[in-house]
Amino acid sequence: MRLLVATILLLHLSLISAKKPHILFIVADDLGWNDVGFRNPDMITPNIDKIAYQGVIFESAYVLPVCSPSRSTFMSGMYPYHTGLQHIVIGDQKVCLPLHLRTLPQQLKEVGYATHAVGKWHLGFCNWNCTPTYRGFDSYLGYYHSQEDYYSHEQGGYLDFNDGERVAREFNGQYSTYVYTNRTTNIIEAHDPDVPLFMYLPYQNVHYPIQVPEKYSNMYPHVFNEGRKKFSGMVSALDEAFGNITNALFNKGMLENTLILFTTDNGAEVFMYGDNYPLRGGKHTLWEGGTRGTSFMAGAGITQPGINYTGLIHSVDWMPTLLAAAGAPQLPGLDGVNQWDSIRLNQPSKRTEFIYNLDDFPIPTQGHAGIRVGDWKLLLGYPGQTDGWTKPMNETKDTLLLNNIYFAGDTPTFLFNIADDPNEYNNMADKRPDIVAKLTARINEYRLTYVAANYPPSDPEAREVAKKNGNAWAPGWC
Ligand SMILES: *[C@@H]1O[C@H](CO)[C@@H](O)[C@H](O)[C@H]1NC(C)=O
Ligand SMILES: *[C@@H]1O[C@H](CO)[C@@H](O)[C@H](O)[C@H]1NC(C)=O
Ligand SMILES: *[C@@H]1O[C@H](CO)[C@@H](O)[C@H](O)[C@H]1NC(C)=O
Ligand SMILES: *[C@@H]1O[C@H](CO)[C@@H](O)[C@H](O)[C@H]1NC(C)=O
Repeated sequence: MRLLVATILLLHLSLISAKKPHILFIVADDLGWNDVGFRNPDMITPNIDKIAYQGVIFESAYVLPVCSPSRSTFMSGMYPYHTGLQHIVIGDQKVCLPLHLRTLPQQLKEVGYATHAVGKWHLGFCNWNCTPTYRGFDSYLGYYHSQEDYYSHEQGGYLDFNDGERVAREFNGQYSTYVYTNRTTNIIEAHDPDVPLFMYLPYQNVHYPIQVPEKYSNMYPHVFNEGRKKFSGMVSALDEAFGNITNALFNKGMLENTLILFTTDNGAEVFMYGDNYPLRGGKHTLWEGGTRGTSFMAGAGITQPGINYTGLIHSVDWMPTLLAAAGAPQLPGLDGVNQWDSIRLNQPSKRTEFIYNLDDFPIPTQGHAGIRVGDWKLLLGYPGQTDGWTKPMNETKDTLLLNNIYFAGDTPTFLFNIADDPNEYNNMADKRPDIVAKLTARINEYRLTYVAANYPPSDPEAREVAKKNGNAWAPGWC
């Protein structure tokens, strides 16, 4: 009898421990290092701060310098220089995340997850097979391009808003943050908590255009610059969304068993009012300001909450890490490494080096390469604009527009010791030619598997298809 009770108890315990976490993967667009309350007391993000402080704040979680490349790593666990997506972003081109790649939601579905995506896709849409509901998501609401109007949801003169495979015209005039949050909370409220849920939430905030309902910009009466004031409001609107979503999970009794991953896709665009201070540079650049992302993880499975994790993480690692957290099978051959034990147990990172990017495409960067090995970072070629160290804009005029030190066509070599010099003031390239040689050799080893960028020109057929589709962007031109 006793044995039976013990056996039943053990069975019960193993069932509980086998219970898969719900996973919330939230992506903020162009959110800078210095654009969140947990780093900058001028920013009002109480919901984000609360969860970040209860979780693990990443000090060294790296992303690519722009949107599509980073998003491709989230969905595939592969470096963009292996998938042809390393050059700038996908527009109206015959390109998408290569169809042979298995995505994170596809792999999570193997172990029973319900999968939903709400927000910006930006991984190509020339064919239906490129779009979210064909890449592993049960449902999708959002837009395909890099950016659009927050209210009309138009991009380049045509509507870019789809609910699954249907053009969604009914949200005209509604600020996208409300639309996405309502969709997300609706999904949570209707969800059976016994089924593991994966929600991928790539929000539009805080990418330009700089648009926000006044009640959010009014939260910043002490910011004099209109653009920065609105931008700050856009951050606070995102924070309110974050709060509403975690509330919905709490009300449904699901929050405790939810693992939250929050990350930006790249550093802030400083001439669009974002800020990465004290890091150097911003979006589009291989400087730390473009690539060291604001990111944290919290919730189910994290055993040592309330820490800042300094170990190296690259965005290619998120897929294998989340698969591990979900108890899903790993995919062989990924560039990413599984960091789940490192993060949840606060152990050293499994990674000692990573590639910032390898891009040989000539325009506008003239090609560049970046690598990190231990504390050393080597950058070869023009790092991109904007350069410099900019504090949050608080003047009445936009004074800091272009702050370039190097220009396209320059071919400098930079070497920094990021542990000693995280803000990249001291180029050590002339002092340590030995390290330059060593890291250059390492880059050349990575180059052996380089896949050329797939970056054709804009395709006029995309607009023809949009016109025939009632002036709404649609697949069907590749
Ligand atoms: C972690 O970093 C944040 C942001 O810089 C800071 O506010 C916080 O005090 C740090 N926490 C710990 C435990 O060091
Ligand atoms: C939220 O979604 C529900 C269900 O589709 C809808 O009835 C409601 O009007 C929406 N609310 C807002 C504020 O958009
Ligand atoms: C902007 O500058 C004013 C005047 O110096 C100051 O009072 C205010 O605190 C600053 N606001 C921010 C967010 O830095
Ligand atoms: C959050 O929820 C409150 C209360 O329902 C609502 O008024 C607000 O508009 C929501 N915010 C967002 C960003 O969806």
